Amino acid sequence: MRLVFLGPPGSGKGTQAAILKDHLNVPHISTGALLRGQVAQQTALGKKAEAIMARGELVPDDIMLGMLESRLTEDDVANGFILDGYPRNVAQAEALSELLERIEQPLDQAVLLDVDMDVLVDRLAARAEQEGRADDTPETVRRRLEVYKNQTEPVIGFYTEREMIVRIDGEGSIDDISERLLKACCPSDDE
Ligand code: AP5
Repeated sequence: MRLVFLGPPGSGKGTQAAILKDHLNVPHISTGALLRGQVAQQTALGKKAEAIMARGELVPDDIMLGMLESRLTEDDVANGFILDGYPRNVAQAEALSELLERIEQPLDQAVLLDVDMDVLVDRLAARAEQEGRADDTPETVRRRLEVYKNQTEPVIGFYTEREMIVRIDGEGSIDDISERLLKACCPSDDE
């Protein structure tokens, strides 16, 4: 099973991907987590990405594609993957289609987690207190939400045109949302 998780910051992509990956027995690939790893190690890429992420902007497409291509060609991806945080604009969606075609790993579905703005802001404020993630400050959260609206929302249209999108209500308890996702993505598990 090859899935892309879409949704605004705080919609639960990372939380749900971490649960679903065990049901599907595939790796959870988070481009945000890959970038945070590069920042923590202060690699050349990490140093470049750090300031961009702190502003809530997108890291340039060529950097992201190079990083993703190396990850998607690792051995553990042979059975599929859950991709969280990519694509974030239509150019990335097109690049992903080409890459997946080239490595013969066509996408099955794009899953969109629908969550109201107020809920997103509350969740990210709570995480800021609990974890202190560098980009969860009120100003950066505002910018991340704007960037989502302007650059990432059009990706929904990209997958809708290709009849690949599944919308999931992303509000409620984590368990309830996982159940909805499992029903939508792997219905046989529920029988
Ligand atoms: P990334 O790490 O992808 O951040 P994001 O998309 O803003 O997503 P979040 O991690 O904030 O939210 P999420 O939807 O995963 O929700 P989560 O499960 O964590 O990207 C960070 C930055 O990296 C970007 O801004 C950009 O600079 C760069 N970047 C990454 N990918 C890129 C790309 N492709 N191109 C260019 N740049 C890129 O949940 C959020 C919180 O809510 C958690 O505390 C969680 O515990 C809680 N929560 C989750 N579900 C529930 C629930 N049902 N009820 C209550 N609380 C919940």
